[in-house]
Amino acid sequence: MLSPIRWQNNKLQLLDQRVLPLREKWLSYEKACDVATAIQNMVVRGAPAIGITAGYAMALSTIQHKNYKNKQKKIRQDLNILKKSRPTAYNLFWALQQYEHFIDTNNFSLQDYLSKAIKIHQDDIKNNLKMGKIGEKYIQKNDGILTHCNAGALATGGFGTALGVIRAAHNNNKIKKIYADETRPWLQGSRLTAWELAHDNIKCCVITDNTAAHLIREKKVQWIIVGADRITANADVINKIGTYNLAVLAKFHKIGFMVVAPTSTIDKNLKKGTDVQIEKRRADEILNFGEKKITNKNYDTYNVVFDVTPAKLVDVLVTEKEAIENPNFNKINEL
Ligand code: MRU
Repeated sequence: MLSPIRWQNNKLQLLDQRVLPLREKWLSYEKACDVATAIQNMVVRGAPAIGITAGYAMALSTIQHKNYKNKQKKIRQDLNILKKSRPTAYNLFWALQQYEHFIDTNNFSLQDYLSKAIKIHQDDIKNNLKMGKIGEKYIQKNDGILTHCNAGALATGGFGTALGVIRAAHNNNKIKKIYADETRPWLQGSRLTAWELAHDNIKCCVITDNTAAHLIREKKVQWIIVGADRITANADVINKIGTYNLAVLAKFHKIGFMVVAPTSTIDKNLKKGTDVQIEKRRADEILNFGEKKITNKNYDTYNVVFDVTPAKLVDVLVTEKEAIENPNFNKINEL
């Protein structure tokens, strides 16, 4: 199974998602602070994959500081650096929280840190397979599916959340056509989703983000299926910028809008989506197209990379435990 993260000879290896699909390049890491920079720079991205990576980074931290007198200070420092790498994906904080107790109790055993990271990684794959089975039941024969960003194997431990449901439905011969939004400005759709589907011999059709409304009006899409970076207590969904547009379109055109995310993405501590810190990134991500300059570098930009979809626009939230239709505060609480 395709996975963007591997642990080999006490080193962490990440598939560099900045250069896919033109190059398949693996980068090797020995220091937690370098992994934090890799997360910040999008070598690895996608909420569950970021959480898994942070777990392995904590294992690296115990190796790096094994001969240091005040290990507690150094390892806590690494944990805090990792916490600051990206602000929105909840899985990062969910994973790191599991190491707080080790640090508090002066447990710096590599075996314990690594076992935890491996468990986070393997559980994520298991959950994705479960969500695939649960979510694909909603898909009817010959449905057209539109997805946004990359919520696939590359964004998780393997198999994917939204793309996991799409894979499962494809394996049951249900899907007429898969459409992938290119997802400006990082192009997770045209670079990553298209690549990983091609890797599994699954055809997909790339569209520009602004084609979605036209495509839906042509009745080519019956379900929009996306992942999530964070889901708040009231079931609001924070996901890649442009997700909210799609949810509004789905409501207007009366087609299905499905969010697929493990419970590790649910942040019960925040009441509503607008409480979440939305990441803003550099201007050049918009003013350039990849490496290529396309406009004046001094222009003002507003590069917010996630948006908030209100729970009332979500038809189904698929988790590894169950699918919740019309999710809301009470249903999330019960879950
Ligand atoms: O900025 P990115 O590429 O990390 O954003 C990723 C997304 O928005 C995904 O849809 C989300 O993390 C879910 S991944 C299973």
